[in-house]
Amino acid sequence: MEESKKTLYSAIQPTNNLTIGNYLGAIKNWVALQNDYNCFYAVANMHAITVRQNPAELRQRTLSLAALFIACGVDPDKCALYVQSNVSAHAELCWVLNTFTHVGEMERMTQFKDKSLKHADNINMGLMDYPVLMAADILLYQASVVPIGKDQTQHLEIARDIAQRFNNAYTPTFTVPQGVYLKAAANICDLLNPAKKMSKSAENANGSIFLSDDRDTIIRKFKRAVTDSEACVKYDSENKPGVSNLLSIYSVFTDKSIAEAEAEFAGKGYGDFKLAVGEAVADKLAPIQAEQAKLLADKSYLEGVLKSGAERAAHTANKTVNKVYKKIGFYQL
Ligand code: TYM
Repeated sequence: MEESKKTLYSAIQPTNNLTIGNYLGAIKNWVALQNDYNCFYAVANMHAITVRQNPAELRQRTLSLAALFIACGVDPDKCALYVQSNVSAHAELCWVLNTFTHVGEMERMTQFKDKSLKHADNINMGLMDYPVLMAADILLYQASVVPIGKDQTQHLEIARDIAQRFNNAYTPTFTVPQGVYLKAAANICDLLNPAKKMSKSAENANGSIFLSDDRDTIIRKFKRAVTDSEACVKYDSENKPGVSNLLSIYSVFTDKSIAEAEAEFAGKGYGDFKLAVGEAVADKLAPIQAEQAKLLADKSYLEGVLKSGAERAAHTANKTVNKVYKKIGFYQL
């Protein structure tokens, strides 16, 4: 850990298959920022259980997600890569922060409302408390930046509020974090319904490109993507949301600007455009998938990475918990 560097924190839940939205909205940025910050990257399995999970699948997905991070370019020598439940400080700080959070604030969270509708048979306390656990994640490491997609903005805001509230009640204890968004990719939309974000749990899987999709599936899904009747490849998110979403995806997957991409497809039809987007995505994902499979075949290596990641994370996190316990008056031995 380099003292001079600021700290960065982010996490992803090991639920369902990750989509290119998760990749572009988060992981790509994680890799881009790992040299500039002291990075902590977690598999958020404690968040995942707010919706009922199959235990064997959750275990498998946890390892698989850790392998994916590395396959995408997260360097475990530079970053602390770990599984949330392996660092007990997350649950400990969450409990304290609960007492600095109002029930009404949690009831107003958009994701809580959405998930309550979706899982009406299991609106558990964890589902409601989810943003407080997320605040604990971030605040434990005194992170100043948090790379996320736009859908997590509200959760980040509440983490900032809780940090400030605690700092005001005692003395400055937590760094107040800021969200960072990969501009072109902060909100990747569903291919069949560009008014909605691309989601791991979308009703129609044809609207999402999963990081595990094979080449033929990727190209087929892009072929079916909703566009418009103008036959003009131009970025205009208001009037041409489908085409604009495809342009964003193409631009980030090829590292070309939107203007460059528009010029490339000037005068061409949507058929050619959609095929090119599909090919660009498939070309990029194939080596990631191969590397992930290779890593998953070496379980002892992966477990070693996660063990040392958890040790590094716990070292920092426990310091924060001790500081907090002292401030709030917990009797310490
Ligand atoms: P999760 O697992 O739902 O998503 C992981 C990351 O992917 C981003 N994302 C998207 N970005 C752009 N377009 C999309 N369509 C899209 N879909 C998802 C999300 O914004 C997120 O950055 N609560 C978090 C996990 C978490 C966390 C944290 C994040 C737990 N603790 C602390 C940051 C800091 C979540 O459920 O993300």
